[in-house]
This record gives sequence, structure tokens and C-alpha cells, in this order.
Amino acid sequence: MKAYSGEYGDFTAAVRRHAAPVVGAPVIEIQGLRKQYGDTVIHDNLDLTVRRGEVLGLVGGSGSGKTTLVRQILALEAPTAGTIRVFGEALGHRSARLERRLRNRIGMLFQHGALFSSLSVYDNIAQPVREFGRVPDDLMTDIVRLKLEMVGLTMADAAKMPADLSGGMVKRVGIARAIVLEPELLFLDEPTAGLDPAASEAFVDLIGTLHRALGLTVVMVTHDLDTLVALANRVAVLANKRVLGVGSVETVAALDDPFVNEYFLGERGLRALGGLPPERLAAAPERVRAALAGSHAGAFRSEN
Ligand SMILES: Nc1ncnc2c1ncn2[C@@H]1O[C@H](COP(=O)(O)OP(=O)(O)OP(=O)(O)O)[C@@H](O)[C@H]1O
Ligand SMILES: [Mg+2]
Repeated sequence: MKAYSGEYGDFTAAVRRHAAPVVGAPVIEIQGLRKQYGDTVIHDNLDLTVRRGEVLGLVGGSGSGKTTLVRQILALEAPTAGTIRVFGEALGHRSARLERRLRNRIGMLFQHGALFSSLSVYDNIAQPVREFGRVPDDLMTDIVRLKLEMVGLTMADAAKMPADLSGGMVKRVGIARAIVLEPELLFLDEPTAGLDPAASEAFVDLIGTLHRALGLTVVMVTHDLDTLVALANRVAVLANKRVLGVGSVETVAALDDPFVNEYFLGERGLRALGGLPPERLAAAPERVRAALAGSHAGAFRSEN
């Protein structure tokens, strides 16, 4: 990744030496979740735990309910039944004040419409702070400048409007906005969708850097296997209306399920899995090793 040197020093180089956050106590606990829209059941008896400091990847077919799950964790959508605890506080039992306090500990990069199109980059990043309370102009400028530098942009980008940014820049500003209140928990819904491979790789580096620097817990929905392999400590697979399994990417790749088979053990999946460190591949379930051995990715690897 490019090193970004600004007024606050070389941020990425400084944090590369940081250890990843220690994975600790549960931050999100979901038990027996049910979600229905009319007669349509989206989630049924879904359980999931996310621990402090981890990057949890959430995968599942289109329409399997990934975004709906995130929206329920954020309390933007009410569950039909079951319990969701965030930072130990159960949903539906919170006062408006507590709700607001919890919201300020959580950052979110939405799948669509990450930015307000009518606001400049500066105002997009400043907006969550303004909502929180009054901040003097010079302090606000410092906050926005620091956040821009953290995501690899500068004050020269502050006056631009969202329509004038590249896809990668929109995502960066979206992240700057999501972390402006210094959250502990960050949600990313398809963070690399629509980016070309180079922009996608740079953005994955940025998320990894922020995860380390800010000691964040990250829940990331993604279709992109390279992003998943590069960032996720654990992967949760959403299928049949519940979480089918949670574990390392090579462990969940061995689950016996049509979506998992196609997604992880198809050509693209195997290519991404082939990029795992050799010691992890050697310890992968037999089903995954067999699929890799029979694929081009496996053949390519053994030639090296
Ligand atoms: N407000 C709503 N009213 C009715 N149905 C909804 C609503 N929101 C989502 N759904 C339905 O719930 C299902 C899950 O949608 P969701 O957006 O969570 O899927 P997803 O896994 O995020 O898909 P994608 O990978 O395409 O983003 C879909 O069938 C969708 O049509
Ligand atoms: Mg979605």
C-alpha cells in the first residue's frame, strides 16, 4: 500500500508495526433470531457471536439476508423473534439515550449510497459529529483532516462533491465518515463491490490498517473471496435462513451445502483459497485439499 504522509505523520507505516487486536469477549450475541416480511421467512433460528477485535466475514447467496441481518444488529430493522445483544445490551430494551450512545460506538459503510450526494466530502465526514453536538470550526477542520489522512486522502479533496469522486474515493470517504466518531465496531456491506482490482486491493489494505490501528471489531459482508481471504479472521456462512457454520475460510469451505460448494470450491473460490499460507492449506479439511488438488489453482501451486 502507498504510504500516506501528511501533517499527522506516516500513518500506514506507523501502524503496520501494530499487532492485530486481541480477540476477546463477545461484542454481538444473536440467539434464535427470526425475521419475516409478511409470510416470507428470511432468518429462522439464527445464532451468531462476534468477538471483540475480530474481522468477521459474512457470506451467503444474493437475497440470503446478509444486509437484513446487519440492519437488525444496528436496530434499523426489528427482529420478528429472538434476541440480539450488542455490547451486552439487548435490543428492544434500550432507552432512546442508551440507543444513541450505542449508535455512537458503531460505524457503518452501507452497501448502497455511502454518501449524501448533496454534501461535499468535508460535510459528509463532519455530519455525524455535528449530529452529536456543537464543535468549533477549527476543531472540526482538524477532525476532518485527520480522518481524510487516515483513509489516504487530503484536505485538497474536502471541497469535492461525491459525483466528482472515483468509486474508490467514494468508499474511502464513506470509511472516513464511518470512523469519524471513533467507533469500536465497524460494519462494512460489500466494501469492494464495484472497485477495479487495484482499487479493491488498496481498499482491503486500508481496512486491515484501520482494524489494527483502531483496535476495531469488523463485521464485513462480501461476495469477494480475495477480500475475505485477505481480511477475515472468521467467516460466517448464511444459508437456509440461518448461520450454517462459522470458522476459518478453509473450514467453512468444506461445509456440505450447494451455495458453499459453488462459492468456495468453484474456479474463483479455489483460486482465492490457493492464496492461503501453505501451512493452513496443509491443515485444511480433506474436501478442500482434494478440490484444490484437482483444480488449476492446486496444480499451479504444486508446480511452484
Ligand atoms: N423491507 C423489506 N420488505 C420486504 N422484503 C425485504 C425487505 N428488505 C429485504 N427484503 C427481502 O429479504 C431478502 C433478503 O434481503 P437482503 O437485502 O438482506 O439480502 P442480501 O443477502 O443482502 O442480498 P445481496 O447479496 O443481493 O445484497 C430478500 O428476498 C429481500 O427481497
Ligand atoms: Mg445485501
